[in-house]
Order: sequence, then C-alpha cells, then structure tokens
Amino acid sequence: MNNKIIIFDTTLRDGEQSPGASMNTAEKLQIALQLERLGVDVMEAGFAAASPGDFDAVNQIAKQASNIRVCSLARAVQSDIKAAGEALSPAKFKRIHTFIATSPIHMEYKLKMSPSEVIKRAVEAVRYAKTFCDDVEFSCEDAGRSDINFLKEICDAVIGAGAGTINLPDTVGYRLPTELSDMISQMVKFIDNRAVVSVHNHNDLGLATANSLACVLAGARQVECTINGIGERAGNAALEEIVMAIKTRKDVFSELYTDIIAKEIYPTSRLIASITGIEPQPNKAIVGKNAFAHESGIHQDGVLKHKETYEIISAESIGLEKNSLVLGKHSGRHAFKDKLISLGFDLDSEALNTAFEKFKELADKKKEVFDDDIRALVSEEITKIPQSYEIVGLLQSSGGNLASASISIRHNGEIISDSALGNGTADAIFKVIDRISGISGALKDYKVSAVSQGKDALAKVDVKVEFEGGGAVMGHGLDIDTMMASAKAYIGALNSYMRKI
Ligand code: KIV
Ligand code: ZN
Repeated sequence: MNNKIIIFDTTLRDGEQSPGASMNTAEKLQIALQLERLGVDVMEAGFAAASPGDFDAVNQIAKQASNIRVCSLARAVQSDIKAAGEALSPAKFKRIHTFIATSPIHMEYKLKMSPSEVIKRAVEAVRYAKTFCDDVEFSCEDAGRSDINFLKEICDAVIGAGAGTINLPDTVGYRLPTELSDMISQMVKFIDNRAVVSVHNHNDLGLATANSLACVLAGARQVECTINGIGERAGNAALEEIVMAIKTRKDVFSELYTDIIAKEIYPTSRLIASITGIEPQPNKAIVGKNAFAHESGIHQDGVLKHKETYEIISAESIGLEKNSLVLGKHSGRHAFKDKLISLGFDLDSEALNTAFEKFKELADKKKEVFDDDIRALVSEEITKIPQSYEIVGLLQSSGGNLASASISIRHNGEIISDSALGNGTADAIFKVIDRISGISGALKDYKVSAVSQGKDALAKVDVKVEFEGGGAVMGHGLDIDTMMASAKAYIGALNSYMRKI
C-alpha cells in the first residue's frame, strides 16, 4: 500500500461554510495560490452550482492553478455535476467530487429515498461526472452513521461506475477514534486498492484530528481537512494538526508522509485568519498565538537549557519566524520586494508598486513595521474588489456618550460629504456611510484586533453587515487609526454588497 497521505484541502468549500467566513473571488484566488505553495494535493475550490459567484471562483482558480488538482463539490444531481464540470474545464488537473447521504436517518428524512434508489442515483452521478473528467470522487455523506454493509454495497457500485476515490465522512462529528478505525479498516479491506479510501471528519466532539489520524493508521490514504480547522459548525479536521502529527510521530506513522511544506503552514494560517476574520483560538494547536509561548518559569528554564524539554515542534519548522522587525521608511523597493518573496507573495510589477506605496505610507506613520503588518497590507491590496464607494476623508469627535463623524466618500467620480451623530464614534461613522450611500445596513458583527504589537499597531476591523434585501456580507479594514479601519471595513462590506446585487 502507498505510504503517501493525500492532503485534500477543503478550506474554500467546507471552510467557507463556517458562519461568517464567506469570501469573494479575489480572496479565494489568493488562498488558492497559497494552498498551492503549501503543497496541498487536491484543493476543493468550492461548490460550483451553489451560486454564480461560487461558479466564478471555481472557474478562476481552475484557470490559474498550475500544479495542484482543483476540485468542485456537486450533489448527485445532473445540474450540479454539469456546473462543476464546466467551472473546472480550464484546470490542468481536475476532480469532480459528488456525494449523496447513505445513513438511514438522512435517506429517510432528508432524501426520502430508498437505499436502492440512493445507489442508482450515486452510480448515475459518477457516470455523468466521468463525462467531464476522469478523476471522480464519491462521498457517502454521514458514512459515520451508515450501515457498513450498505456502505460496501454502494461503494462497490460507484467504483464499478468509475469513482477513483471513496470518501467516508463523519459528517456530524459523532464517532470516536476506535470506532472509525474499525470502520475504515473494514472498508480498506473490502475496497482492496480499487479506489483510494478518504476520510473527512468534523469536530463536533473535538475529535476531528484524532479521528483522522486513527483512520490513517487504519489504511485511509486521503485526508480531507481545512486550515485552522475552520468549517461547518465546530469545524473540520485541521490540516496543520494532521500534517504535524504525522511528521512529528515518525515512531507511530513510520513510512507514512505528506507532501506538505511545513514552513508554509504558519503563513497560510495567517492568510486564512486575515481574510476570513476568524482568528484561531490562542491555545489552538500548532497555529494558535500561544502554541509556542512558555509562560511558567519552570518551562522557560527548561527550554533555555534544552529546547526539547518542553517543545515537541519548533516554531521555525512551521514558518513562524520571530515577529521580525523588517523594513523602515528608508528601505528601498528592492528590499521590499525581497521581503514579499520571503513572505510568499509573488506580485506583478503594478501590484508591487501599489503595495510599495502603501508600505511607505505605513512606514511614515509607524515606527516599526513587522512581517504581520506587511502580510496584512499586501493581502488587503491584492484581494481588493472594485471600489464602488471609496473613503477619502474622516473627521471624528466624541464627548460623553455622543460622538460625531464627518465623512467624504468618492462614488461614481463624485465626492460626497456628510456628517452624523451617534452613540459612540463607530455608530456615527456607520450612520454617515448609510446616509451617503442611501443603503442602510444592520451591523451583525464587529471585531477589532491589532495586526502586530506596539501602541502604534495597525488596527484590523472585521464587520459583518446585512444590507437591505441582501444576505450578510463581510468587510475588512486596516489602518493605524481604529475608527478609520472601522469606516474602511464598513465601506468594504458595502462594496461587496454592490457586487452581489
Ligand atoms: O461533511 C460532509 O459530509 C461533507 C461532504 C459533502 C463531503 O462535507
Ligand atoms: Zn464536511
């Protein structure tokens, strides 16, 4: 049996199903390119049939990815599979991932189909998917709660129809490692190398990583996972945890390996956090802020004497260099370009010029510019969508509970200015923007964080706003001034809304 564990990343599909994680095409493209650098084998770029925006994102990624297999999810229905096939058509390497539920509860209550109808539908779906591309994956949704004999029957049928990968998800995160290990070893034996056996575990009981590792030891050779473990409800198995466990515990996993470039783990984690606004919990394994922080005196003393006393993984091995002081206002374009390359950004000359100007503006205001500042600045620049509204000035004052904000905004080549009072400055700012645009928004979430350290740290604001007649959209703003970052975030959400309607 092959020793390579195929890493199937679904950050852009299941990860995007995390509440509040929806991303625009430019953001998805940026993530896709970073996943390619990370060395992921298969990237689930989205669910092409879900919306025109999803179709476009899968299609753009299919056009631009060069060295990675791009995949689209599709229910076992013709229209979904057709959308997936068409969106993926420009990809050099592609895969259609089709699925149908196989557990009694899903078949009876959700699908209202008999087991034999489910098998028939699954076989038709795989056959139809094969007319678009050779590489077809089939998932038994809720396999974790499915009958093993039924799983064998349906897998046999879809393998006969041409499925090359059989994915057995624990969709609701219900199973324990011993149970999944037992199920996977039975299925591996039954499938007997006719297809790759894949697993996809959710984290509802906090077991997604442990379950995935147990499945690998039981013979699964593909693991589906997301960066930072983001995903539906409690999330998916975290890519970084699985990869680092396999790498660190050679004594257990022996010859098993992945092709992930560990040094790209931390930069990828930061990119996902900054684009989605979902920060990993501080104590999150591998990529949390505290994952390499030693607080107690006894631990610090031990680490100083011999690192391995309390460290099983080095921060450097996942690409977490010390938050190094980088460039200052006297740094030149060449040094800036070198820095971007070392951070994994590959910009064309126009984007490089704009990013350099932004860096100079920042270096003028901020004494010390850190790697995280540059990452945030450049990500913001390259994922920018067309600016229907653009903020050109902000004046604010506050006293007691009352605050006022005066804002100038460029829209259709015209500058429009207005002011408003509010309960606090952010409230006043959002009110003026609503007034200028004539579109009122309800603020559903508002988060402020510091990009790096220091009193003059860049502020990052993430908002979730529901505008009239549209669903919720996210907006992100970056500025030295927290209120300006808030205004930019709100305008960013407005611009996303304008693109959607
Ligand atoms: O959790 C799940 O079952 C899924 C499938 C669509 C693969 O995400
Ligand atoms: Zn899932």
